[in-house]
Amino acid sequence: MDEKILSLLKDNRQHYISGEELCQRLGVSRTAIWKHMQKLKDLGYGIDAIPHLGYRLSSIPDKLLADEILYKLKTNIIGKSIYSYATTASTNDIAWNMAAQGTAEGTIVLAEEQTKGRGRMGRTWSSPKGEGIYMSVILRPDIRPVDAPQITLMAAVSIAQMLQKELSIDAQIKWPNDILIRNKKVCGILTEMSAELDAIHFIILGIGINVNTPQTHLSQNATSLGREKNLTLSRIELCRAMIMELDKKYQFILKNKFDHIIKLWRDFSLTLGQHVQVVNSQQKTIEGQAIDIDEHGALILRKDSGFMEHIFCGDVVSVR
Ligand code: BTN
Repeated sequence: MDEKILSLLKDNRQHYISGEELCQRLGVSRTAIWKHMQKLKDLGYGIDAIPHLGYRLSSIPDKLLADEILYKLKTNIIGKSIYSYATTASTNDIAWNMAAQGTAEGTIVLAEEQTKGRGRMGRTWSSPKGEGIYMSVILRPDIRPVDAPQITLMAAVSIAQMLQKELSIDAQIKWPNDILIRNKKVCGILTEMSAELDAIHFIILGIGINVNTPQTHLSQNATSLGREKNLTLSRIELCRAMIMELDKKYQFILKNKFDHIIKLWRDFSLTLGQHVQVVNSQQKTIEGQAIDIDEHGALILRKDSGFMEHIFCGDVVSVR
């Protein structure tokens, strides 16, 4: 019901809709309409109400509310249902528990803030309230566990492309999945998987983007989209655009067309062709020339010894 009223108000933002018309179109009483308007106001929506004229939507709250993201969202799988939290420890944990209980593929969990946001390799992810996008997606791809890194690369490419389309920002991807602007990190991806040896139960794709985060809330080697554009950006629109891009690119994984993702990834890559040091999860450092990405999404390194190595997980710590 709230969703229907909102859609009507949004589709008619230029003029007032009378209480009577709303009653007729939604088949409810005037009191019910009034109550719903109060509820929307409580959620932060600006609603102008003028006697004899009716209601008009004057502003939308800058909150990642499910109804806002779902408005005019056209996707096949990702974003079929969305759960928004004001605060949570980690959206990845909520999504993980939901997935373990059988929640459908494509379900999204969003939060305005995270109190225990997690990053890769045991790091934390700073998630200040209302400043970024903190999102986790439940995926159940029919691929082998060894191909799971494909999902991370697919997500990185989707975000880099979304930034180009929506904000004309030329972002780069540092293997495997850090999104950088002018060498500063703006987005991180944490992919967690529940699997057996030969089958994936589910993957939680966690994405954190610094959107309107001020420099005081960022480390020196990080930036935010707002800072790069010198603007306050709509998290809702960016979030919606990102979901649509993820949904499109996810189809390539499902249709066994990872080569298309690799091609795009190469275009955005900061790592390929560079001499790099990679620290793996056992803190072992491997050094060499980053040659390419293999069919699983692993980084192919030509080591200084001349031998090749395919690296599935790690951090590129220095590039020269
Ligand atoms: C990294 O670069 O180390 C990955 C950061 C991933 C952060 C996101 S925010 C949403 C989701 N919930 C988490 O706790 N982490 C991921």
